[in-house]
Amino acid sequence: MVQSAPCIPAYESFGETRPTLVLVHGYPLDRRMWRVQTDFFQISHRVVSIDLPGFGESRLADASGRAFEFSMASLADACAECLDQAGVSEPVVFCGLSMGGYVGLEFWRRHPSRLQALILSNTRVGADSPAASANRRLVAERVIQDGTEAVVLPMLEKLLCDQTRLNAPEVVEELKRMMLSVKPETIHAAQTAMSLRSDFESRLSEIGIPCLVVAGESDVIVPATEMQSFANRMPNANFVVVPQSGHLSPMENPTAFNVAVERFLLQFRNQ
Ligand code: MLT
Repeated sequence: MVQSAPCIPAYESFGETRPTLVLVHGYPLDRRMWRVQTDFFQISHRVVSIDLPGFGESRLADASGRAFEFSMASLADACAECLDQAGVSEPVVFCGLSMGGYVGLEFWRRHPSRLQALILSNTRVGADSPAASANRRLVAERVIQDGTEAVVLPMLEKLLCDQTRLNAPEVVEELKRMMLSVKPETIHAAQTAMSLRSDFESRLSEIGIPCLVVAGESDVIVPATEMQSFANRMPNANFVVVPQSGHLSPMENPTAFNVAVERFLLQFRNQ
């Protein structure tokens, strides 16, 4: 079932059993990245998979043409509105990959009563360094001049590990389709917003809900060691490494990713 309404992101909702698993994609992707997870988890859970504003089937403006004010905080609020629209009132397990993880941390800060647990996949908890932030501003300018392809295709090399690039052409093609479908103004807004995102390093000890921190064995964007280090500073976090995967663990090794998430979700059965 695909739904969308003015100002409310497009989403799909499958299955019925609680807890609800909310899937939020990374940049510059959309909810298609979770295809294997939605197929798998809807058998045992309700799954809500969201296209953040501007990505996939979601618009970057409302019906009257007013632009969405893009920030990690407003994205978290958009996810909450989406859950209202989907009729999900109970606390959820929020699973975000990379940019989706930044949104997950804001969801924890802004909507704590709606959150039962957090899955942080291939993401970081700190803000950008000045150099990273400056680079994002360059990308944000360049995409308006040169278009989507010029800024997204060079990312392929870093997003996927060697095994995926060599042995899984269908994953490479699906990834390209998603990346090339993003409009320049969305890339501009997302890069600007990520460069301004909050730093959660000093708040890790406050995140007391159960967390699963998932790293890719060969992730060169967020190395597994960095993820392990912040998982160690969270009071209630488990850490797992997905083998044979780069930055996109749920797409590159969905079997290992799903096993880790399924184990984590077992603790919420019958709650
Ligand atoms: C992502 O996969 O969402 C990006 O790597 C996030 C980022 O650019 O920081």
